[in-house]
Amino acid sequence: MTETDLRERIARELAGARQRTGLLTGCVDEADLVAQHSPLMSPLVWDLAHVANQEELWLLREVGGREPMHPEIDPLYDAFEHPRSERPTLPLLPPDEARSYGHEVRGRVLDLLERSRFDGSRLLEGGFAFGMIAQHEVQHDETMLITHQIRTGAPVLAAAPPPPAAADASRLPREVIVPGGPFTMGTSTQPWALDNERPAHTVQVDPFFIDTTPVTCGAYAEFIADGGYDEPRWWTADGWEHRQRAGLSAPLYWSRDGGQWLRTAFGRTEAITPAEPVMHVCWYEADAYARWAGRRLPTEAEWEKAARFDPVTGLTRSYPWGEQEPDGSRANLGQAFLRPAPAGSYPAGAAPCGARQLIGDVWEWTSSDLLPYPGFTAWPYREYSEVFFGPEYKVLRGGSFAVSPVACRSTFRNWDYPIRRQIFAGFRTARSAEVEVESS
Ligand SMILES: [Fe+2]
Repeated sequence: MTETDLRERIARELAGARQRTGLLTGCVDEADLVAQHSPLMSPLVWDLAHVANQEELWLLREVGGREPMHPEIDPLYDAFEHPRSERPTLPLLPPDEARSYGHEVRGRVLDLLERSRFDGSRLLEGGFAFGMIAQHEVQHDETMLITHQIRTGAPVLAAAPPPPAAADASRLPREVIVPGGPFTMGTSTQPWALDNERPAHTVQVDPFFIDTTPVTCGAYAEFIADGGYDEPRWWTADGWEHRQRAGLSAPLYWSRDGGQWLRTAFGRTEAITPAEPVMHVCWYEADAYARWAGRRLPTEAEWEKAARFDPVTGLTRSYPWGEQEPDGSRANLGQAFLRPAPAGSYPAGAAPCGARQLIGDVWEWTSSDLLPYPGFTAWPYREYSEVFFGPEYKVLRGGSFAVSPVACRSTFRNWDYPIRRQIFAGFRTARSAEVEVESS
């Protein structure tokens, strides 16, 4: 990519992120912007100024060498100084000031972009710092969409068109096989990949079967109807304790109307769509479902091998379908439909193993803890990933309908506590394949 092309791409990604931020914060009134809809979430007005503050910090100050514009507000928007539950009590910038701060920063960033060369420092190489900031803002666009899902009251987001369904979906096999052997996991070459996705390394994976599509609402309703939430044997000890303490009995936002399950999304209540991937289940629920089905969650390495490994060439692809960037023909991304597409959609986005919808639709819980890859180095700051490594967090893969393509790679790693349900997360299940032993 030439410097001009890279500059244009960066400007396009930054503009796209800001357009979405504007939509998510422009469709509610001032009172709604400063309100906290859940202790799990920031007020939307915090996200609004925080994305601008990070943009100022990394691009204007670190890359551009500028002095801080408003040093007194830095601590307010440092995610590590104040947990989300505390943020509404801070003297945050009011909505108008937050918007004009963001506007001012962006104007200066576009000037800086015009003058920047993409070499000479690691932050500038391949436009990394600009790419990191574009990804940061779209990640907050997903966070803000979660806040929209949590908020109560009349709908404010326009109803979206239905996502596409594939004609052959009902004829798909339930599962597909992924051959055993080594494959290359992670990346050392994607310029905007974040530190936890690096470096590329070889991983040995035994052969396994994985669901062709994410688990659907219809299949999950069968688990509920079969008493899945009442049987401790399907749950880990921690999971059962949490299920009892939290009173879990169905996915978050599901409710019962006679014999029918309903779900509420962005202020609208409707019957569940049986073919749609289930979401708003925590890791413990996903794990219990998998045991009930006689299966298990895939490991993170299995998930990535299913998504990227091409058994014909032995090479690891960038995306399930190859090297082309995601677009609307291959994956449900970018908040276009505000819901996952029916299971089996996007045949053009299938992986070589035949699995579909690995990218987009719903984040997928894996069985793995968030751990560093061999050779990991924190970059550009420890708080991006390193402070989260350990057994408390489970890895999610693949991105959801709420993720923008710029922050969705087959190497991208997300993580959360195993009790979290507000995120747009579902799962698919796996099982080990019998290894054929040659007789001698
Ligand atoms: Fe952030």
